[in-house]
Amino acid sequence: MTNKKRNIFVTTALPYANGAFHIGHIMEYIQADIWVRHERMCGNTVHFVGADDAHGAPIMIAAQKKGITPQQFVAEIAAGRKQYLDGFHITFDHWHCTDSPENTELSQTIYLRLKEAGLIYTKDIEQFYDTAKGMFLADRFIKGTCPKCGAPDQYGDSCEKCGSVYSPTDLIDPKSALSGTTPVLKTSTHYFFKLSDPRAVEFLHEWTQGKGADGANRVQAEVLAKDQEWLSGGNLADWDISRDAPYFGIEIPDAPGKYFYVWLDAPIGYLASFKAYCAKIGLDFEAELTREDTEQIHFIGKDIIYFHTLFWPAMLHFAGKPFRVPDHVNVHGFMTVNGQKMSKSRGTGISPLEYLKLGMNAEWLRYYLAAKLNSRVEDVDFTKNDFQARVNSDLIGKYVNIASRAAGFIFKRFEGKVADAAMNDPILAELRQAAPEIKAAYETREYARAMRRIMELADVINEFVDREKPWELAKDAERAADLQRVASIALEGFRLLTLYLKPVLPATAEKVEAFLNCGELTWNSVENVLSSSRPISKYEHLMGRVDREKQLDKLLPEISAQQTEEAKPVKAAKPAKKQAPAADPNAPGGEPIAEVCTIEDFIKTDLRVARIVKCEEVEGSDKLLRLELDVGEGRLRQVFSGIKAWYKPEDLVDRLVVMIANLAPRKMRFGVSEGMVLAASSALKKDEGVYLVEPFEGAEPGMRLH
Ligand code: MSP
Ligand code: ZN
Repeated sequence: MTNKKRNIFVTTALPYANGAFHIGHIMEYIQADIWVRHERMCGNTVHFVGADDAHGAPIMIAAQKKGITPQQFVAEIAAGRKQYLDGFHITFDHWHCTDSPENTELSQTIYLRLKEAGLIYTKDIEQFYDTAKGMFLADRFIKGTCPKCGAPDQYGDSCEKCGSVYSPTDLIDPKSALSGTTPVLKTSTHYFFKLSDPRAVEFLHEWTQGKGADGANRVQAEVLAKDQEWLSGGNLADWDISRDAPYFGIEIPDAPGKYFYVWLDAPIGYLASFKAYCAKIGLDFEAELTREDTEQIHFIGKDIIYFHTLFWPAMLHFAGKPFRVPDHVNVHGFMTVNGQKMSKSRGTGISPLEYLKLGMNAEWLRYYLAAKLNSRVEDVDFTKNDFQARVNSDLIGKYVNIASRAAGFIFKRFEGKVADAAMNDPILAELRQAAPEIKAAYETREYARAMRRIMELADVINEFVDREKPWELAKDAERAADLQRVASIALEGFRLLTLYLKPVLPATAEKVEAFLNCGELTWNSVENVLSSSRPISKYEHLMGRVDREKQLDKLLPEISAQQTEEAKPVKAAKPAKKQAPAADPNAPGGEPIAEVCTIEDFIKTDLRVARIVKCEEVEGSDKLLRLELDVGEGRLRQVFSGIKAWYKPEDLVDRLVVMIANLAPRKMRFGVSEGMVLAASSALKKDEGVYLVEPFEGAEPGMRLH
């Protein structure tokens, strides 16, 4: 990259306007906001916009239930957004809505361009229709018995019990979730975007493997791997982009009664928001988009990769100017709580509003997330212990403490003036030298690396203060100069640490800028040292510690065993497949118990419930079976297991097992093994059998063992 200033258009995924923000949304906004603030500190121009994703059947139906129009429904949700965004210091320049004139116009324009390009066609398809309600039913509004496992009351697209995926017409005894009546099959004409067109496939191969204007890969390696899987072998299906009335959406031009499927107009909402913003501040939207140096960057979660790295770039590319393809789609993992997917019913979610109401500092969460986020598509786990440690030990104990230790001396004893000569101290040089590395870590979204480095530097200052003992120097009037030198170094160190933390702690940085009287901290001000010509003001308390009982325990009450049982009834186990020989009570498996391990050691192994989806013998191996396991990740894992002598492949299909899901993948002669399934055996009596471990009924693929 040259030193030229960048012009960047940044978005986060548009949240469905059917509910308040949850902590996963806030995590995405914080990740993007940190990046945006970093870019602004570089002097780059950033336009950071968001919007509500208003359209679709669920919102239409939710509004009906409340007896209001979908527009009213969405407006109510939108009115609640500000308190969250302000509360967590998220600085969108503009917040819009996909149900807006800008979005209607842009969606229709883009659609007509795609049609001109020969990429739209129609086809008649058969779908379930609710005759009582007079509407076609989305998969989510059809319920019935799972054709695979017989579980009642399952949705039309997949079974929550056994995880299998099917189409609504496969359901046994399907019923409309809206009226309870049995739906009938009805034919209707749908519009399709021809993603299978060789031009589209070729373009997507190119786009996914390309680079953004900054020279970095367009998408992360994991995302590219997924895209290539989807793109390979002509597997790309055409995309059904129409829905029949009644539907809350945008009308398709020249197609009465047909609306764009919500996912067509949703990403166009990024542009609609930008357009409205441009109008607001007097920028020319089309000129901004077509500017040579404009960059377009989207932050999204891992569940919507397909839409953002295949549909969206293809739509933009074939729509032509002024539209431009994204430079980057930055994908993050999911926020989990205690290693579990968040679920309100099981009480494992964190309410962002509750967080603020408990008086918890928004910057604690920003710091906590920064300390855990990297550029990969990894989930970020929230645990109370970890949160408490990072906030109280690192943020307060290491960083904030420096100011409270040093500022008082300078303010009270030296009229707020630092010792200018102290600014050349080698310790400070060490801190300044770290700037490019920390800046680069922000740039590449390696926030955890940046936070680690910053805390190392805080350690350097704290060790210096511990060594020099200013509180003792303060007792001796003759050592005033020494005291001033030590406190000045600590304060200048604090200024640098604040600069480095500013994208994460914007409110604190603002307070520090004021009390240090050091002007606005940017990446250009690393060398602008504190000066005796600009005395500091009185130190005001910057940030407190998190309280375990009054805050963390209230935010996230312990889940009692009883609650967990209520949530998931445990039924009797199936009879064992093979009868194990009676155990010798004196010798557990004949093997001595291993060395003591701590809970931390144990937690390192991520044990998951997995379903064996496929199982086969391995050619050339007399020990191994090849398993394909569903661990609830939306993909299957291949695992080789030395159980061939004990199990027939066909007996294992569809059974649940336990696997170590975070074991480093191992390359074997037959392929890569991505984990290990657990089986019991006796070390001394190996030939007596190997027994796979099977969870009790009710367990589901992806559940973690604790
Ligand atoms: N409306 C669509 C996006 C349209 S974008 C043109 C949507 N909305 S959503 O409300 O379900 O999700 C919004 C964003 O939040 C997505 O990027 C999604 O990945 C993210 N998250 C949803 N749950 C999350 C976590 N538990 N953790 C982190 N991000 C999560 O999808
Ligand atoms: Zn099922």
